[in-house]
Amino acid sequence: MTSTLTLTRPDDWHLHLRDRAMMEGVLPHSRHFARAIVMPNLVPPVVTAVDAATYRDRILAALPDGQDFTPLMTLYLTEATDAADVAAAHGAGIATAVKLYPAGATTNSASGVRDIDKVMPVLERMAQIGMPLCVHGEITDAAVDIFDREAVFIDRVLDPLRRRLPELKVTMEHVTTADGVAYIESAERNLAGSFTVQHLVLNRNHMLVGGIRPHFYCLPILKRGTHQKALRRAATSGDPRFFVGTDSAPHPQHAKEAACGCAGVFSAPVAVAWLAQVFEEEGALDRLEGFLSQHGPAWYGLAQNTGTIELVREDAPVHFPASVETGAGPVVVFDPGLPLHWRVKD
Ligand code: NCD
Ligand code: ZN
Repeated sequence: MTSTLTLTRPDDWHLHLRDRAMMEGVLPHSRHFARAIVMPNLVPPVVTAVDAATYRDRILAALPDGQDFTPLMTLYLTEATDAADVAAAHGAGIATAVKLYPAGATTNSASGVRDIDKVMPVLERMAQIGMPLCVHGEITDAAVDIFDREAVFIDRVLDPLRRRLPELKVTMEHVTTADGVAYIESAERNLAGSFTVQHLVLNRNHMLVGGIRPHFYCLPILKRGTHQKALRRAATSGDPRFFVGTDSAPHPQHAKEAACGCAGVFSAPVAVAWLAQVFEEEGALDRLEGFLSQHGPAWYGLAQNTGTIELVREDAPVHFPASVETGAGPVVVFDPGLPLHWRVKD
């Protein structure tokens, strides 16, 4: 027996669209989302208000006819970022948030921040005007184990920053550990977190046992099952500080299936379906709308979307195409290899 669930249209609070041929290929696959926070880690990165405005124009020009989608732009924080330019971009509605990548933390992050002191004037200005900082929360110290990088980032960078500048609104993106969840839950205000699909559905065993699966490799890396459990509990708790940010990050298949495969999971086509699956498994389908469609807009000070989507539950397992074709080559779609019973009605 099939059943359906009608929800306010969701938003994706962390999305990589890339540029040109890749962007054209992946953009239609975010069609269930009305808006998305678009990541600025292009080569070269989206740093200034002008960069963001021209990138937004390219996204809007690449949208298929009839796709109702609003890109919410972010500025890539560098040690040379100009506070006045950031404030002007926010005031003019060009940029929704600023993104902090510790230098070297992930794909295309070489221009990121090495010394937080150098960006304090920008962060102070953002705190004054209420502009959120989106954070890739991983320390890049080579001596720190990759599985500990989130927890160490919180202790060494994030917590000191928030004590120094309590008025700054911070989104901890793609939270992957129980430590991250606990840190957000302990904050009195000005801190929220997003979860990806893959960190809710999988843990590191799925990536590493019985063969190495490059399509599950992303940053921050999948963690152990106890962390996955903590994420699932927080995501389905109804706490408004937690919401979806898919971190859908397309790379051509050949770049993932390589001796040194790059980080990023392309989940956009299946994200809503898999989140419905997770919430059903946790007995929390009544809280799915909050996570997908309500908590994010409230945090970013935006209205909820007015449209709806319809989710269908099928008894027989649902399957999606294994990859999508783009002008930059095929991109493999996230497939955990576990039973999925949900799809979004088009
Ligand atoms: C992202 C990408 O490919 O741009 N990769 C990833 O594994 N998440 C970068 C990022 O958000 O860290
Ligand atoms: Zn990302």
